[in-house]
Amino acid sequence: MLRSIILAIESSCDDTSAAIIINGVIKSNIAANQDVHAEYGGVVPELASRQHQQHIIPVVETAIRKAGIHKSDIDAVAVTRGPGLLGSLIVGLSFAKAFASARNIPIIEVNHMQAHVLAHFAEVPQPSFPFLCLTVSGGHTQIVRVDGPLDMTIIGQSIDDAAGEAYDKTGKILGLPYPSGPIIDDYARKGKPRFEFPEPKIDGLDFSFSGLKTSILYFLRDELKKDKDFIKNNMYDICSSVQHRIISILMNKLEKAALETGIKEIAIAGGVSANSELRNQLKAYAQKHGWNHYIPSFQYCTDNAGMIAIAAHFKFLKGIFSDQSITPSPRMSFTPHQ
Ligand code: KG4
Ligand code: ZN
Repeated sequence: MLRSIILAIESSCDDTSAAIIINGVIKSNIAANQDVHAEYGGVVPELASRQHQQHIIPVVETAIRKAGIHKSDIDAVAVTRGPGLLGSLIVGLSFAKAFASARNIPIIEVNHMQAHVLAHFAEVPQPSFPFLCLTVSGGHTQIVRVDGPLDMTIIGQSIDDAAGEAYDKTGKILGLPYPSGPIIDDYARKGKPRFEFPEPKIDGLDFSFSGLKTSILYFLRDELKKDKDFIKNNMYDICSSVQHRIISILMNKLEKAALETGIKEIAIAGGVSANSELRNQLKAYAQKHGWNHYIPSFQYCTDNAGMIAIAAHFKFLKGIFSDQSITPSPRMSFTPHQ
């Protein structure tokens, strides 16, 4: 068998991560998070880029050391080309190019959203093809039909905000730090979904979350007129109600996709797949419809280089490499057989 040792780099948003994969098995997966954004209610691109520059060398060195290999053992360097923030992508890509050039090894470019889907191949059990993956992150919400490791089709997606963005923007309205998803998830479990937020009526398998944000704003504006401490006094129930609606929007479309395609292998991926309610609902729907369902472990839900490494492994096996001329692609999408 062709031996492959790949160094993978992820720097598309606010996590600097490096991983080593040997023959398809992840040997290390290291990440440095950035807490500098917490007070701003979202990622500040300029700060993210500077933090990546500070973190990338120690993160790569730790990944190599933890995998018990030497730099000279590495056969290829994989890197996220997009989608993501331009200034963040540039740091990972420049590092990967320099590393590949110095060692005279090939570069493997990876689409970040495809890598989220392929995170399912980091562990067992693994979905069989074809499967559907609901990929829910801070920047994207997609239902992807996966016919092979490198053969994916987006069959539904958000026409405005992503699910993670809906969490983060709600958090900003409620005065919570960024990223608010995990905090809202925690508070939601302590409250009851007693406030009603409308479900948007969007055709087909697409999603919309911007109306939800507006209805939360109007609802709070009216309630705060009656009780200036409304948010403080009802924080858990507000979070529970918002979470209930976001997850029902996601699950209704996922169920529709499963019924329309007849596919019963159902996976979730991306940062929001760490959400407790989404995980519980997926299990409940799986029981109802006889789906086999797949949920990544926490370390493979949010941004990490392990998932980039898995995607790169599949490309390595097919001999798909890039060269020194690649540039970052902040709006990168994908089409089948890519
Ligand atoms: O995939 P990811 O790490 O980064 C992007 O590619 O965007 O996703 C980050 C998003 C953030 O919006 C964050 O608030 C959300 O995932 N998130 C959660 C939870 N954990 C992370 N949202 C809801 N519940 C969670 N437990
Ligand atoms: Zn992501």
